Amino acid sequence: MRILITGGSGYIGTCLATELQDQHEVVIFDLVEAQPPFECVQGDLCVFDEVQRVCSGVDAIIHAGAIPYDSGEPRKIMEVNVMGTFNVLESAVEHDIQKVVFISSMCATGIGPFSREAVVPDHFPVNEQQPCQPEDTYGLSKLLGEELCASYTRKHGLHTICLRLGMVSDSKRPDAVNRLERIMENPDYGSLYHWGCVDVRDMAQAFTLALEDGAAAHGAYHICGPEVAAKEPSLELIKRYFPRVPVVGEHSFVENPYRGLIDISKASREMGYKPRYPVRRSFRSHSD
Ligand SMILES: NC(=O)c1ccc[n+]([C@@H]2O[C@H](COP(=O)([O-])OP(=O)(O)OC[C@H]3O[C@@H](n4cnc5c(N)ncnc54)[C@H](O)[C@@H]3O)[C@@H](O)[C@H]2O)c1
Repeated sequence: MRILITGGSGYIGTCLATELQDQHEVVIFDLVEAQPPFECVQGDLCVFDEVQRVCSGVDAIIHAGAIPYDSGEPRKIMEVNVMGTFNVLESAVEHDIQKVVFISSMCATGIGPFSREAVVPDHFPVNEQQPCQPEDTYGLSKLLGEELCASYTRKHGLHTICLRLGMVSDSKRPDAVNRLERIMENPDYGSLYHWGCVDVRDMAQAFTLALEDGAAAHGAYHICGPEVAAKEPSLELIKRYFPRVPVVGEHSFVENPYRGLIDISKASREMGYKPRYPVRRSFRSHSD
């Protein structure tokens, strides 16, 4: 397949381009030129003609290009993340492209570092039925992106798979190591994330699966690791931080006391996602 990766010069885009290049022809679209050996077209997601042009001859799109955090520029976030997604979907339809994999975020649900207080869910583990309640512009832009995807599937039959990534952990990247350290060392802060992180290798697996035919025509999927990013067992974290929230399937925490509190069973069931790298096991604190 010829796969277009928007935002492909960025961190996740480069990881995915590297992962996919052996099996597919990869083309990157980004404001910033990509590192060789990738074919790259420089352009702006906000300029429809530029997006439309790069989609010619493409079989599938991974849409990673975005302002990837709550940058304090709400208008810019909306323009790039929402209008950019609209431009990608419109171009996909125009070129009869069959699939768009949209990089969403757990922040679309409100779970993440940009909420002032941790979201109190209906139950743990938190699945995709949990109502989304982002309070920041970044999370909102991801939720709107998912809604755009759903609408394009309804109207045009375009397959749109939305992967809600937890914080991506990567032992080779100092900024990701620092973020993981903050979550692991400070469970108060980790509670904002419901201690949900994903190892970059498991993240890559989710994208490979999403590009295959198995998944539904449209869906949003939680993509996190198999265990909490915390030193304490999951039920103890719930007792301390969310004492009123019921736990579904408590017996599964006997088998693995660190079982993740973000439910990934929809991705496992529908896509075959099976994460293998619990980030808490790869984490070494300075005092270890
Ligand atoms: N890193 C994480 O932990 C994480 C977690 C959840 C979701 N995400 C999502 O993953 C995606 C990639 O994030 P990342 O961490 O690699 O960030 P990144 O900043 O490294 O990559 C984003 C890329 O998008 C490009 N871009 C921004 N505006 C653009 C525009 N107008 N036109 C074209 N390209 C543009 C940037 O140049 C950059 O290369 C984003 O959609 C982000 O929201 C990241």
